This record gives sequence, C-alpha cells and structure tokens, in this order.
Amino acid sequence: MRVTLSVVAKTLFNADVDEEADEIGASLTELIHIFPLLLAPYGEHLLRLPFPRMRRFRAALDRLDRTIFSIIEERRKSGRDEGDLLSMLLLAQDEEEGGGMSDRQVRDEAMTLFLAGHETTANALSWTWYALSQNPDVEREMHEELDRVLAGRMPTPADYPRLPFTEMVLAESMRMFPPAWWMGRLAMEDVQLGGWTVPKGAVVIVAPGVTQMDERWWPEPQRFDPRRFTAEGKASRPRMAYFPFGAGTRICIGESFAWMEGVLMLATLAQRWRVEITETPRPQASITLRPRGMRGKTWRRVSTRPRTG
Ligand code: HEM
Repeated sequence: MRVTLSVVAKTLFNADVDEEADEIGASLTELIHIFPLLLAPYGEHLLRLPFPRMRRFRAALDRLDRTIFSIIEERRKSGRDEGDLLSMLLLAQDEEEGGGMSDRQVRDEAMTLFLAGHETTANALSWTWYALSQNPDVEREMHEELDRVLAGRMPTPADYPRLPFTEMVLAESMRMFPPAWWMGRLAMEDVQLGGWTVPKGAVVIVAPGVTQMDERWWPEPQRFDPRRFTAEGKASRPRMAYFPFGAGTRICIGESFAWMEGVLMLATLAQRWRVEITETPRPQASITLRPRGMRGKTWRRVSTRPRTG
C-alpha cells in the first residue's frame, strides 16, 4: 500500500505523501469496513448517527480530505501547470458554460483517482506474492525471465513488453484474486437478459470473483497457472470470461497504468527478493478483495546471471 500510494501521488499529483502513508492507510481501512452500510436503505443517514463507528468513519474521511485539499491548495497557490493530472483538472474548462471546476469537484475527482489508483494495485501485488510463494515452479520460471531480460539491472518502462511471463503471472493472480471482485450496474429501464427480465431500478452485480472461477472457461480453477494467458489461451475464451478491470464505458480508466506499474514493480522486487509466506491470508471481501492477515519473510535472491550494472 505504501509503495502504490506513493506512486499514484507522485505520478498523478506530483505530491509526496510518504510521511502520511500510515494514517492514510488506516483511514482507508476504516472507510472500507463501513462501506457496506452505505448500500443499506438510508445508509447515508446512518453515517450521521453519534456512534463511535460513525465518528471514526467521519474522522477517516476528514483525514483523507485534509491530504487531498492540501495538495489542491498548494497547486492553486503555485499556479504552475505541472503537466500532470492535477493541473489538467484545475485547468479544465466547461466546454459549454466556460469556467473551471470548484474545489469540491476537483476534490471528488482527485479522491476517486487517489483511492482507486492505489488500493487495488496493492491488493493485486500482495496476492501475487502469495501465489508465487505457493507455486515454486511458476516462481522459478518468472525469475528465469527476469534474470534473462534484466540481468540484474533495474527495469525501465521499455522492459515492460519484454516481460510477458511476469505479466501472465499478474494476470493469473487477478483471475483468482480479483482486487475489484464485484461491480454493480443500475438498470435505467426494463432489460431482457439471458431469458430474465431485469426491472428498471434493479441493481445488477457482475463479479469477476465468480466468473473467473467458472470451470467452463477455467479448467481446474483453483490451480494457479499463468499459461492460461498465452495468446492461444486468450483466444480460446469469450472476451468477458476475464474482466478484472470491468468493461464497457465505465471500464477502469487506469488499466494500462496498472498493468505497467504492476509488472515493473513485480520485476523490480522479484529480481532481488523472494517472499516466504508465514501466515496464509484470508480473503476479506468488501469493496475490494484484501489479503487479510498475510505475513511473510523476505529473502535476498541471487540472480542466475551476472550483474551488469
Ligand atoms: C490492479 C489495479 C486495478 C484494478 C483491478 C481496477 C479495477 C477497476 C474496476 C473493476 C473498475 C470499475 C469498472 C466498472 O464499473 O466497469 C475501476 C474503475 C476505476 N478505476 Fe480502476 N483498477 C485498478 C487500478 C486503477 C488505477 C491505477 C487507477 C488510476 C490511476 C484507477 C482508476 C479508476 C477510476 C477513476 C475508475 C472509475 C472509472 C469510471 O467510473 O469511469 N484504477 N477500476
């Protein structure tokens, strides 16, 4: 979480939040715990009640707001166009009515990106370490690719397309442990779907966490096998058998970012370190799928190739 938080803050907002990382992480955990309440009838009103849980929720929200508003304020003060996403939000003008966004609108956009842009990637990487530790043959094959392609040097974005097996490992990890394991759609009108009528106003949940374990497309679904994601493997399945980033007009806006970040992060760490899991994670399924209680030891790895620099 620390590393993906610092990546998203730096790349999208050119901000350093390392010192606040623990508090931000704790606030996020609080929000995630209480989120199911928001889905209940009158959920938003429940949050106003004077219970300790609700107070903690509001405090967590305030904590996140402080970080986001201070990033926005600093940038407004400097007035500089840093060419990053934050500057784009601040400089955006309404095409019809002119005028920029209010602080509140910028805050909402920034908060979405800030949260959506790091927790999911952190979960994906954590589950991947778990999967690698349970599948030494896969781990060996990935190390072999890293040693061959990188020969001990730090990966750069140019290496991303040269690490196909590492990408397959991440893909298979997100098949078995999709960080966003469900998503919802609201029917705007009556819809006929596979012989069913979905009435207007109904919420339809689609869940990668279910579809991606379906034996029709994923034989032996409990087996961790990155080779399912070779070009032939992919061509053999319907497109929607795998959708960790959603689909359609609301597909994850950060998908390409997440693939590149995930593969390069995995490559950077795995070429030097191995993780031995000492406490098996329990899936904690809330908004996202977290590996709860996972603990491990890290071991320094010796590359099979000599270092070149
Ligand atoms: C492994 C990492 C990630 C996963 C699994 C993931 C997954 C998802 C999913 C399933 C959705 C909902 C799509 C839908 O409803 O159909 C979504 C939306 C979104 N994601 Fe991601 N995401 C990841 C990383 C990122 C990153 C790195 C960013 C930003 C840089 C990001 C920003 C967003 C935003 C802004 C939305 C809302 C898009 C909209 O409603 O139009 N995500 N993501």
